[in-house]
Amino acid sequence: MCGIVGYIGNNDTKEILLKGLEKLEYRGYDSAGIAVMNEKGVHVFKEKGRIADLRAIVDEDVMTNIGIGHTRWATHGVPSKMNSHPHQSATGRFTLVHNGVIENYDLLKREYLTGVNFVSETDTEVIVQLIELFVQDGMEVIEAFRKTLTLLHGSYALALLDEQNSETIYVAKNKSPLLVGLGDGFNVVASDAMAMIQVTNQYVELMDKEMVLVTKNEVTIQNLNGETINRAPYTAELDASDIEKGTYPHYMLKEIDEQPLVMRKIIQMYQNEQGKLAIDSEIISAMNESDRIYIIAAGTSYHAGLVGKQFIEKMAKIPVEVHISSEFGYNMPLLSEKPLFIFISQSGETADSRAVLVNVKEMGYRTLTITNAPGSTLSREADYTLLLFAGPEIAVASTKAYTAQLAVLAILAEVVAESRNISVDFDLVQELGIVANAMEVLCDSKEIIEHISREFLAVTRNAFFIGRGIDYYVGLEGALKLKEISYIQAEGFAGGELKHGTIALIEEGTPVIALATQESVNLSIRGNVKEVVARGANPCIISMNGLNMDEDSFVIPEVHDLLTPLISVIPMQLIAYYAALHRDCDVDKPRNLAKSVTVE
Ligand code: M6R
Repeated sequence: MCGIVGYIGNNDTKEILLKGLEKLEYRGYDSAGIAVMNEKGVHVFKEKGRIADLRAIVDEDVMTNIGIGHTRWATHGVPSKMNSHPHQSATGRFTLVHNGVIENYDLLKREYLTGVNFVSETDTEVIVQLIELFVQDGMEVIEAFRKTLTLLHGSYALALLDEQNSETIYVAKNKSPLLVGLGDGFNVVASDAMAMIQVTNQYVELMDKEMVLVTKNEVTIQNLNGETINRAPYTAELDASDIEKGTYPHYMLKEIDEQPLVMRKIIQMYQNEQGKLAIDSEIISAMNESDRIYIIAAGTSYHAGLVGKQFIEKMAKIPVEVHISSEFGYNMPLLSEKPLFIFISQSGETADSRAVLVNVKEMGYRTLTITNAPGSTLSREADYTLLLFAGPEIAVASTKAYTAQLAVLAILAEVVAESRNISVDFDLVQELGIVANAMEVLCDSKEIIEHISREFLAVTRNAFFIGRGIDYYVGLEGALKLKEISYIQAEGFAGGELKHGTIALIEEGTPVIALATQESVNLSIRGNVKEVVARGANPCIISMNGLNMDEDSFVIPEVHDLLTPLISVIPMQLIAYYAALHRDCDVDKPRNLAKSVTVE
């Protein structure tokens, strides 16, 4: 949440910052700003709204070689020009951008800054005012910066300009992601390599509680004791075309369409030279040595975890619990003797999940992260990582990451099963290939699904998704997709649960989207559909070839019944996409949300 950039060098700083912010807009998009510095001082441009709104007010005539920028997802203070970053100290000497949350900002204000007139409602302003206060008390800037960092409780990725030093960007990180990018005669700072991949693919990772002095030709990392740290850069494996929309109107549609490709890539990446599915033997041992697996995740990744539980229990026969990360911290279940924790996170940065990771590591338990982001916080901090190989997912609504998570979980379950001599009665490589082909068929059925979306969702204010067994979990994901981007109130329910209360909400015309891909519950879910129809509901049944009946609205191709979520979710994603489109919603950047949820 929130994205920050910085640049120092000889090129067009404003444009590099603005382009970088455009790439980071998925992290937050309620306001944005940049600060650039030249011999006339620091020039701050900020605006409520999108980067395009900011671009419109940036003075093109300001020439500069150093600057910082920010795109905001509001935590403290409403989205407004006043609360947008950069923030400045009282005299205007220091200018700061910040991603994260300073938990003790109010305390610091009362303890140190009672004489200061604050102009924003943010926690961030406290940081920049403290730095100025300590400098006014006689400290060198670097000392004031360091001292301020030691006082902060919470998360931060910071970039600071000092009007009296046009040679340095002061940078620091704790819990929020931040990278320094290296160039020839320039250096950059970014929350995500994606922001600066146009100018460099060489990055240095920063660890928590590190600060960095970034000049045009040098990057000096220090810990908070002032000791210098040497760290080699790595090459960011990002293709600039991966992060462009190309001819697509929205990233979400592009990412939905990428799913067959991602599926094939995953099959390839997890196959050994003999064509067999393979996973690092240490991970397999960790799974086998555990007596219970705890899957921790949020949102769509949590929904993937629910399906993953089925894979692992049915194939590898290890008991699994699935928990929402934000609940787990204070609502921890009684743990088994030898737990293994699996964190599922597209971004690898979700703060709620990270808080659990830190906690269970302290308790001495082993951890595995399944993520799309190599080098992300959850990947770095867990004992083991499995990658999704889905390519950057930019739309806020997660699509290809979900199906990639399911595929990797299925592969993990299969490889563990094999290591335990449990025979799985199907060839997963072959079945995932069938899934990839089925995905293609579904991606080619957009016109029909658009029609369904219009027919069922054009005028409604709410919708229900029902399913039984594994279909129930896909219903949860379908409902999340729909509410997230179209703002239609949508809920997913186990088919049998409706009559225990929720059926009271069914009115004439209420859309009920029912999933029927499981033979064992096909008749029961159809019975639930009859119950809602008797009360006026407008049913949309999505079934699987072989289980379909005349009244069904859409039939998905047949795949192995355990793997149906990998394809039944695609009509859900497309239904949500078209519902949002028909309502003129901003599909890729829904209101109030951000892609990477880095605050707890
Ligand atoms: O990056 P993560 O997978 O950890 O993110 C978790 C959720 O924030 C995320 O899945 C969210 O629910 C999506 N926007 C849903 O489409």
